[in-house]
Amino acid sequence: MIEMMGVSKSFSGKDGPFKAVDGVDLSIKEKEIFGIIGESGAGKSTLMRFINALETPDSGQVLVNGVAVDKLRGKSLRNHQKHIGMVFQHFNLLANRTVEENILLPLKLHRYDQVLTIDEVLEFTGLTDKRSSYPAELSGGQKQRVGIARALIIRPHILLCDEPTSALDENTTYEIAEVLRKAQNEYGMTVVIVTHELGVIKTLCHRAAVLEHGRLIDIMDVVRNSGKRSEQSYYARVLEVLKDE
Ligand SMILES: Nc1ncnc2c1ncn2[C@@H]1O[C@H](COP(=O)(O)OP(=O)(O)O)[C@@H](O)[C@H]1O
Ligand SMILES: [Mg+2]
Repeated sequence: MIEMMGVSKSFSGKDGPFKAVDGVDLSIKEKEIFGIIGESGAGKSTLMRFINALETPDSGQVLVNGVAVDKLRGKSLRNHQKHIGMVFQHFNLLANRTVEENILLPLKLHRYDQVLTIDEVLEFTGLTDKRSSYPAELSGGQKQRVGIARALIIRPHILLCDEPTSALDENTTYEIAEVLRKAQNEYGMTVVIVTHELGVIKTLCHRAAVLEHGRLIDIMDVVRNSGKRSEQSYYARVLEVLKDE
């Protein structure tokens, strides 16, 4: 469970300090796929980065499973961060490393008790025949599959995805959304997705926070409001995509 209570964060802009995140309260349930949607500059990434303490709020509190993450230091901070996977808009792959080497990178940064095998994540993301390829030889969708595989190999408790489909075309967006949905289903982690695309929220998320100028203006309950209909059209889309391949 991730709880944010009255979190705010100011940055200095060209007209002086402004609140990038302004008094947000929300809680994200265990194993939920939770979206954060809003326009560029709304504060989405900053809000998400509170969860793994890459940003610290000026006021308010962020609790992950009851632990105040902004108070963590040293080993306990590293221990918190190492169990959180991240997926990025521009993939953040190392160009001079193969797919396999990129995916194995997190295991070189920290020691883990329980990880997935390279074969399992390659198979799960459909990259088995690309393991020796370099990023430049891959399509955008394949690059993002590498990004997802690299996040999954540590068996994260929480998966943070910052605009994971924003650099991809529409069909690839749905393909990657499906990989993320499948990953949550298979490995049971909590997933938080920042996006400015409503379609991604509707097809993938259980609930989503709507941010505007740093303020939380709504929590959309995707399943209750439009889940069934959008889920059907989503699967229809996925089937179409698979048929085309
Ligand atoms: N480290 C920083 N220093 C100064 N301003 C920042 C910093 N990080 C974000 N901002 C500003 O805070 C606002 C919110 O940023 P961000 O959380 O990245 O928004 P979003 O992800 O919704 O596009 C933007 O105006 C951005 O320029
Ligand atoms: Mg952002």
